[in-house]
Amino acid sequence: MKLLVTGGAGYIGSVVAAQLVEEGHDVTALDDLSTGHADAVPSGARFVEGSITEARGLLSEGFDGVLHFAAKSLVGESVEKPALYWSHNLGGTLALLDAMRETGVNRLVFSSTAATYGEPPLDGTRSRAILETDPTRPTNPYGASKLAVDTTLTAFAGLYGLAAVSLRYFNVAGAYGRFRERHAVETHLIPNILKVALGERESVSVFGDDYPTADGTCVRDYVHVADLARAHLLALDACTAGTHEIFNLGSGTGFSVKEVVDVCRQVTGHEIPTVAGPRRPGDPAVLVASSDKIQRELGWKPGRASLETIVADAWAACQTPESGPAV
Ligand code: UFG
Repeated sequence: MKLLVTGGAGYIGSVVAAQLVEEGHDVTALDDLSTGHADAVPSGARFVEGSITEARGLLSEGFDGVLHFAAKSLVGESVEKPALYWSHNLGGTLALLDAMRETGVNRLVFSSTAATYGEPPLDGTRSRAILETDPTRPTNPYGASKLAVDTTLTAFAGLYGLAAVSLRYFNVAGAYGRFRERHAVETHLIPNILKVALGERESVSVFGDDYPTADGTCVRDYVHVADLARAHLLALDACTAGTHEIFNLGSGTGFSVKEVVDVCRQVTGHEIPTVAGPRRPGDPAVLVASSDKIQRELGWKPGRASLETIVADAWAACQTPESGPAV
């Protein structure tokens, strides 16, 4: 297929672009390089620098589908700058959808997020794995802006026959060969811990140790970027005109911040000092996915699910010069 990957110079977009190229697709990566890196676009894919708000000309070349990653994606930043998130994530996607309709491109795979759900449902006093049918009550503007896109996609499928799949990512981590997280300002847990092991930081801050969890730190569901990317190829094939399907993507197992630090210590052999800090605004205590639906309906199987593997792949990539600097 001839495919447009928005955000194709970013972390997840570049891994999906690489797997699409490996599968023989004709891939164009569109990225404004606000957070992405031109050298992250895999060889074999064409790179176009530009905004999703100006994609009409490109789409008029004729594409079979769009995989839409380009977005603002930091929970903390979204609490401080909500308008940025509404304008990029909802406004930008509406412009892209308009351009798709005008140019007759009907197939879309969208990067949605666990942050659309907010605090997970309780099973007695314990939170349980989140299902796609659970209520969506985002606790931050990032999740709210992505939920607004999901709502729009459902409407567009009904009104205009759009063939859409949203994948709700939990905590994506790890690396795929040289492709890794390379954020100029790194906020994510695993890359920040690995910076300590690399000697680039003295310690890692633990944002809150008084959450209602076993050890007091936040629990998250880490999914390997290579497994996550594979789900996009399945989703692309599953897109059906007039429907919008939503699938969670996680491993089904939660790890606390302290447990993640311990695994990073084992993998790297470094001591990794931690410093207790205050809670980060917008962070839910626990987010763990049920991925039963995508396993059952699309046959997705995570092949690199263990946290040790995820951390080991990230650790190997950040010591690989070919992965490029995080600037
Ligand atoms: N954390 C720390 N110290 C750090 C960085 C993070 O303690 O230096 C904590 C956070 O407070 C959180 C956990 O580690 O409890 C994971 O934080 P990340 O920033 O790595 O990831 P988030 O859970 O905030 O967000 C990620 C994606 C979102 C997505 C969300 C869904 O960035 O896009 O997962 O679970 F919505």
